[in-house]
Parts: sequence; structure tokens; C-alpha cells
Amino acid sequence: MLVPAKDMLVKAREGKYAVGHFNINNLEWCKAFLETAEELNAPIILGVSMGAGKYMGGFHTVVGMVKGMMTDLKTTVPVALHLDHGTYDGCLQCIEAGFSSVMFDGSHYSIEENLEKTRELVKICHEKGISLEAEVGSIGGEEDGVIGMGECADPNECKAIADLGIDFLAAGIGNIHGKYPANWPGLSFETLAAVKEKVGEMPLVLHGGTGIPADQIKKAISLGIAKINVNTECQLAFAGATRKYIEAGKDLEGKGYDPRKFLAPGAAAIKDTVKEKMELFGCIGKANA
Ligand code: 13P
Repeated sequence: MLVPAKDMLVKAREGKYAVGHFNINNLEWCKAFLETAEELNAPIILGVSMGAGKYMGGFHTVVGMVKGMMTDLKTTVPVALHLDHGTYDGCLQCIEAGFSSVMFDGSHYSIEENLEKTRELVKICHEKGISLEAEVGSIGGEEDGVIGMGECADPNECKAIADLGIDFLAAGIGNIHGKYPANWPGLSFETLAAVKEKVGEMPLVLHGGTGIPADQIKKAISLGIAKINVNTECQLAFAGATRKYIEAGKDLEGKGYDPRKFLAPGAAAIKDTVKEKMELFGCIGKANA
């Protein structure tokens, strides 16, 4: 059964570990993540971006696939199906389609407008028992070949949005999506500590989990990060393993072109990546925590 992400994140914050959010793109990714979470007895958040939802055919397709697969695989660990960086309308569509959790990313609006829209979504989500993530301080990434350094959120704005009753908060602390540039100064722990000071017990979310050194991940968890989003690292692992398969000429041997064979090395590679991340985040064995 799909569950909202709130409970698992409150437990993570109390237990000083983080739950992994891994973005799905298709059936292979979904299966690899669900199998790994079950093998490791870990809670998991399946993230779906607006673009990935569209790619898979729409949010109803995603809900049908995830729920059906959990029944067939006999998944017992807590799983949240979560919209990643949703628009206001995207959140409404996912709520209607059966997601158990949504993120409203209003970070590109003025803080007033972000607050207003987030306030409306708090009401709608909580009436339906769905958890809500909000964002303050844009988490950048590559734009037109230029990689931004990542904004730092204003702790007072974080408090204003946390006070609306959201369930968890993504605050920019110098993190960015995609690969980090060589001259990236690292996470701003001063910002994280200042945000934590203002928002108290609210679980915090670290986006851009790809490529953040292990010591910084551990320190971020000790300062209140309870959810860590990883996407690019799985994409790189999947692409790398698929490339190796093709370069070794395996697609030309026997029925190596069968998608069930062709996509298997990529799926195995993302399972390894997820396992590595779950070890680092400390969420292994926490399914029934
Ligand atoms: P990465 O692609 O950098 O791992 O970030 C993922 C993310 O934050 C999704 O919201």
C-alpha cells in the first residue's frame, strides 16, 4: 500500500537517518527501486517529475504501474509515490490520480505567491491524507550550459512556509541538481543550521543528492535532513552499464537485442547505486522503525 511520506520522515529525523527519494522513469526503474527497498527492508520514496509523468503516459499510468507492481512483488516496506517539483496544477492532478505525496515547487514565485499557493495545497492535501513538500530558495542546476552554484534559502521565509503546516521542506543550501562543478564550494551548513533553528522539528529535504561527498551527507543528516533526492547518479549508472553492454557487442549475440536482456545491466546498476545510497543514508532495516 502506498503511504504518505510524513511518518517515515518524522521517524528518520528522530532516528538520525534519511529516507532515499529516487526518481522513476519507467517500469525497469520502478522495479529496481521496489526490489532493492524490499531486499534491504528500507522505506522508500519514488519520485516522479512532471516530465517523467508525461513520459510514462500520465499520472494515472504511474499510479497503476506502481500499485500493481507492489501487489505483484508483494512489497511490504513503506512506499510513498511522490510528485517531484510539481506545479500547482500538477499537484492537483497527482492528488486526483492517487499519489500519496506531492511537492509543490513555488520557489520561482515571489515569496508571497509561494506562500499563498502552498497554503491552499496544505488544505487540499491534508483533507485527503496526502503529504506535502514545499520549497524555498531555488535549487538550480545546469541552464544553457552554465551550472549555477545553488541558492541559499532565507531562514525567515522557511519559517513562514513551515508555519503553514506543510509536512517537509526543501530549503536551498547551495545544493544543485545534476553534476556538481569542480569549483562548487560545498553545502552551506550555516544556512542549514539557521533554517533548522527557525523551523524546529520539521523534516528537511536535500535535493541534488548526486555527487555530494559522504561526509557532507552525514553532516546534513545530523543537522535535520531526513529525505535525500537522487536522480542523476542512477541515470549515469544506467547509461554506463547499457553502454558497456553495447560496446561489448552483447546486443548482437543470440537474442541480446531483447529489451528484457538489453535493459538488465542498467537495472542491475541502479540497484547497486540505490543500495550504496541507502547504506550512506542509514535507512537500511528501518522499514518497520
Ligand atoms: P540529482 O539529479 O542531482 O541527483 O537531484 C535529484 C533531485 O533533487 C530530484 O528532485
